[in-house]
Amino acid sequence: MKNHCDINDLFTNETLVKVAAPMVRYSKLQFRTLVRKYGCDLCFSPMIIADSFIKSLKARESDFSTSNEDTPLSVQFAANNNEDFVTAAKYCDGVDLNCGCPQRWAMKEGYGADLLKKPQIIKDSVLQLRNSIPKPFAVSVKIRINPDIRLTVELCKSLEAAGITFITVHSRTPSQRCEPINLNALQDIKQSIKIPLIANGDIRSLDDALLMQELTGCNGVMAARGLLQNPALFSGYDKTPVACVEAWVKLAIESEMPFQCFHHHLVFMLEKILPKPERRIFNVLSSTPDVLDSLVNYFSIEVPVRNNLSRFRTDIIYKDETISESSYFLDKISKTTPQLPFEDYLSDSCYLFGE
Ligand SMILES: Cc1cc2nc3c(=O)[nH]c(=O)nc-3n(C[C@H](O)[C@H](O)[C@H](O)COP(=O)(O)O)c2cc1C
Repeated sequence: MKNHCDINDLFTNETLVKVAAPMVRYSKLQFRTLVRKYGCDLCFSPMIIADSFIKSLKARESDFSTSNEDTPLSVQFAANNNEDFVTAAKYCDGVDLNCGCPQRWAMKEGYGADLLKKPQIIKDSVLQLRNSIPKPFAVSVKIRINPDIRLTVELCKSLEAAGITFITVHSRTPSQRCEPINLNALQDIKQSIKIPLIANGDIRSLDDALLMQELTGCNGVMAARGLLQNPALFSGYDKTPVACVEAWVKLAIESEMPFQCFHHHLVFMLEKILPKPERRIFNVLSSTPDVLDSLVNYFSIEVPVRNNLSRFRTDIIYKDETISESSYFLDKISKTTPQLPFEDYLSDSCYLFGE
C-alpha cells in the first residue's frame, strides 16, 4: 500500500493549487510524472469505468498504473456504486466522481454529466463514500455547470454538506464545447461554499491560471489540453521547453512506453514548437527509432541508452502495457479513420489543432 498524502494540506500550503486534469488515455502514470516535474501539485488519473475496474484485469492494467512517487493522486471514476471507489482507495490519496463527462455512451449509461440531472444520487454516493473511507482521504466531485446556475450552486452546497473535500468545476454546460467558460458561475459557486474550488476550462498558461484566481477567487486551477500541449505550463513556460521533451523521452525509454502513447504526447507537445512542414512529417512517423532520430535532428537532444538508465517505476503497483487503440489525433491527421467512441471529449479539443 502507498503512503497517503493529505490533499487538504495542499490547499492550506499553496496559494493556488495547480492540477493536472483527468484525461482518458492521456493522464497516465508517465505523463503525471512529467507534469509533476513542472509544478503540478495534484494529478488525476484518467476516468476509469468502475465496473470494468472491478471485473477486468485488462481494464485495470490499462487505466490504472501508479507508483509510490505518484502522489498526490486522485483516481477518477465513472460509477454508480461505491464498492469500486473503496477498492481504489488503497492506491491513491483521493477518489473523484465524474459528473461532467458529456459523452453519449456515458449519458446513456447514467454516468458522467447525466448524474447532474439526479443530484440526490450524487449526494448519496458521496455520503456513503465518506462514511466508508476515513479522512484525510479525499472525496471529490468534478462537475459541469447547469444552464440555471442556481441549481449548480445548490448542488455544490449539498455536496459540501455531504462531506466532499473539494469540488472541481468545468465551467461549461454538458452541451457546450468551445464556447467561452462561464466566469460568473465560478464566482457564484466560490461565494457559496467554504470547501476549496478548483476552476477548470481554457487554462493555457500560468498567467491564465493567475487571472482565473483573481477573477473567481478559486483555490486551484485544473488544466487538460493546455498541459497536453505544454506539460511545463504551470512552471511559467509559454511553450514546451526542449528539456521537457528530453524528460519525456527519458521517461518513455525507462518505462518501455508503447509507441502510440509516446508519439501522441509528442505530437501535442511539439505543436507550438515545430514549424508546420516539419510537424506534418513528424506527426505521421510510425516507429520509436524514427521519432528519436527526428528529435535528435530537430532539437539536438541526447537520447539516453536504455541500459544506462535506472528503471522507471520499480515500485509499480499495476502495470500498464496496453495502449492499443488508435489515436484521435491520428484521425485528425489522416482524416481516414472512422470516429472513435471518445469523440465527445475530442470535440472538446477543438482548438488543440487550431489550423
Ligand atoms: C483527451 C481528453 C480526455 C479527457 N478525459 C476526461 C476524463 O477522463 N474525465 C474528466 O472528468 N474529464 C475529461 N476530459 C475533460 C478535461 O478534464 C477538462 O475538463 C476539459 O478538457 C476542459 O479543460 P481544458 O480547457 O483545460 O482542456 C478530457 C479532455 C480531453 C481533451
